[in-house]
Amino acid sequence: MRDVAVIGIGCTPFGEKWGSSFRDLFVEAGTLALDDANLSGEDIDAMYVGNMSAGRFIEQEHIGALIADYSGLSTRHIPSTRVEAACASGGLSFRQAVIAVASGMEDIVVAAGVEKMTDVGTGASVDALAGAADREWEGFVGATFPGLYAMIATDYMSRYPLTREQLAQVAVKNHYNGARNPIAQFQQEITIDTVLRSSLVADPLRLFDCSPITDGAAAVIVAPLDRAREFTDTPIRVLASEQASDTITLHDRRDISTLDATVAAGQRAFKTARITPKEIDLVEVHDCFTIAEICAIEDLGFCKKGEAGMLTMEGVTALNGDLPVNTSGGLKACGHPVGATGIKQVYEIVTQLRGDAKGRQIDGAKIGMTHNVGGTGATVAVHIFGV
Ligand code: COA
Repeated sequence: MRDVAVIGIGCTPFGEKWGSSFRDLFVEAGTLALDDANLSGEDIDAMYVGNMSAGRFIEQEHIGALIADYSGLSTRHIPSTRVEAACASGGLSFRQAVIAVASGMEDIVVAAGVEKMTDVGTGASVDALAGAADREWEGFVGATFPGLYAMIATDYMSRYPLTREQLAQVAVKNHYNGARNPIAQFQQEITIDTVLRSSLVADPLRLFDCSPITDGAAAVIVAPLDRAREFTDTPIRVLASEQASDTITLHDRRDISTLDATVAAGQRAFKTARITPKEIDLVEVHDCFTIAEICAIEDLGFCKKGEAGMLTMEGVTALNGDLPVNTSGGLKACGHPVGATGIKQVYEIVTQLRGDAKGRQIDGAKIGMTHNVGGTGATVAVHIFGV
């Protein structure tokens, strides 16, 4: 297998993008990534695009072909493939690109993600997202995603000493980071009181415990490490690319407060990269709800079960803490265009490792990690990157 590096990155601002279509968003992110790598479309060998539910959100399928066409690449007839794994579609799209380059099948590959969610109302959007859970056992009986994560939060809080204030601090910290990220959907700081006084969505989760509904696209370009300096002075190495699966329903899990797919993918990633959690300088985790960030920090092995709330309150996961978590603002404040999120996480880590994150830069960051979850943990992708 060949070593792989990220040589170019691009991301649209996230938010309610009523002035841009699905294809506009993809082309904007792809063009930024190509410019960043000093490449043109002629240089691309293959594309993978993460997208969860264009059929439900914009009534468009056949996304691989659409993207190649509107990128101006249809006459080159390169392979262009849609990757779907709910909210982990972006993470898996990146992994497919890494595998294509590592195997020697392709050299210069785009990994992208795009979702246009706000063309339908909240009800239709929440119903489309519910397709990431088990429709027969969960969706049809009314379990939305806020509802499912509320069950995880309720179980967790009955077993571990997590306070409502500690949970709120996850959102406070991520909004603080989002306020320093020019592409973030929400760029205002909030307080614990903002979270606790926001409307109840699914007890105990309130509005500010939830990631929003978002439009956006992100794209990165990978190449063999030994060719990377042809395109950039700052190639970022992919040290590990791992994926794991679990039962799609919560009720079939061994323990609903531990995402075993996160545990498995995380352990494999540390083994592949030959490092320990202590060596990670920063991590982007899948905080679709505040409780999800708490579980992720623990399940990835950064602390023991039951400790993440206390560490969050103590500032360990803040920008100036020992383990900065979600420097982009995470899904909570940067936004969560579901198919694009996994690629935006890669975009953030590469930006940080290049030293380009300006007001939210982690000084001296050398090793970063991304953690992207599909559904309530039925699919997980974990990647580790190094300078
Ligand atoms: N956090 C903070 N503010 C939010 C927000 C969020 N998650 N979602 C919406 N808002 C804000 C809006 O900006 C708007 O503010 P404004 O009045 O100042 O313009 C206000 O709240 C109302 O927005 P609206 O779009 O009407 O909210 P909504 O009630 O329709 O939707 C949720 C709120 C929580 C139901 C929706 O964001 C949601 O379903 N989130 C979860 C998405 C999800 O499940 N993703 C997959 C996870 S695996």
